[in-house]
Amino acid sequence: MAYTIAVAGKGGTGKTTITALVLRYLLKTKNKSVLAVDADPNSCLNEALGVNVHATIGTLREDSLQTIRSGSERPGGMSMEQLFDYQVHQSLIESKGFDLMVMGRPEGPGCYCAANNIIRKYTDKLSAEYPYVVIDNEAGMEHLSRRTTHTVNLLLIISDPAVRGIETANRIERLIDELQLEIEKHVIIVNKVTGDEVNILQQTAKRSGLQIKGFVPHDNFIFEFDLHRKPVLSLPDDSKAVRAFYSILDSLDIP
Ligand SMILES: Nc1ncnc2c1ncn2[C@@H]1O[C@H](COP(=O)(O)OP(=O)(O)OP(=O)(O)O)[C@@H](O)[C@H]1O
Ligand SMILES: [Mg+2]
Repeated sequence: MAYTIAVAGKGGTGKTTITALVLRYLLKTKNKSVLAVDADPNSCLNEALGVNVHATIGTLREDSLQTIRSGSERPGGMSMEQLFDYQVHQSLIESKGFDLMVMGRPEGPGCYCAANNIIRKYTDKLSAEYPYVVIDNEAGMEHLSRRTTHTVNLLLIISDPAVRGIETANRIERLIDELQLEIEKHVIIVNKVTGDEVNILQQTAKRSGLQIKGFVPHDNFIFEFDLHRKPVLSLPDDSKAVRAFYSILDSLDIP
């Protein structure tokens, strides 16, 4: 079974960037294959990873509904489930050392939950085939309360360097306990730090009984790469955000 790392947090805090850096870290330090899951219907994890998306779970589902409606022949007399299994495997985007599965944005009402359930089911199914799974989640806490995050070994809760960000991170930690989610370990990481706020944020966290696992600096490299739509995967190794985040990951005892 894969060791699964998921990333959660408020909108715009850097979840997708951090997910790409986790993948990069795993490729570099573990040298084993990774399944990356983009579980955010609006996300563009593929851009951060520098790969193109040719199919998403959302569009696959639309296609298979179409097949059912039109009563068209299924190849080799496959059941709908077998066909879908096959298509999901076909839809995986293969790259050097990792594959990417994208939830995408399904059309029409009600389909969103279905795509979510499918992505959860296939994350579970596929995690037997990979040593590591990394999941980029949508913003907020809904995916947690809908239990769309499957059994997770490590949840990185990303916060921006603001008191309100820490409070959101706090709510996420409480929700994990309340819902008794299967999350082995969860830590708060504050991203885009510019320097002065570290002490204040540490004090705020302490008052709320929280622990901040680490701080990742605001990094002009990331800003520039984003501006020119260059993938996070090709950030230089000596970028200060990469270095800071890697040392946080080193301290997390990822097997
Ligand atoms: N350490 C950093 N230094 C500078 N810019 C950063 C850093 N981390 C993230 N960013 C920038 O912040 C913006 C938001 O990052 P990102 O898309 O990763 O956040 P997100 O949490 O996934 O957002 P969303 O909630 O919309 O999915 C991007 O422009 C990204 O390049
Ligand atoms: Mg994102």
